[in-house]
Amino acid sequence: MAPPVRTKDPAVAQGDRLIAVDDLPPSGVAEVGTAEHGTLAVGMAGDRPFAVSNVCRHQFAKLGRGQVRDGCLECPWHRARYDVTTGEMVSGPKGRIFGFPPYSKGIQTYTNGVAKLRTFPVELRDGAIWLAS
Ligand code: FES
Repeated sequence: MAPPVRTKDPAVAQGDRLIAVDDLPPSGVAEVGTAEHGTLAVGMAGDRPFAVSNVCRHQFAKLGRGQVRDGCLECPWHRARYDVTTGEMVSGPKGRIFGFPPYSKGIQTYTNGVAKLRTFPVELRDGAIWLAS
């Protein structure tokens, strides 16, 4: 397994308490540093809390700096979207270069075959998102 990925200046979890829902930015997702798993992308997709690996499988953008859109986590760089429940890339990179359909679909297929986002079970408790035990 790859080592946990860390990032500069994430929010810091207090044990299993990742972040208060009220402390999430308007994007609906934040980078949260944990002792056990490194930095995670943590947020709310509608009324469903989530915590997933923080690194986009396309070109390694920090997903905690992206946004939740249409119930998916969207990468801040080329807008690939992820299902936060399964970790699957539901749509590939977009834009003039990376949105070239065969390329975009290839990235999506590769990601879902070998490199889905890691997902972590979480729960809502006392207005905060917690790692589930
Ligand atoms: S780095 Fe995430 S879509 Fe390109």
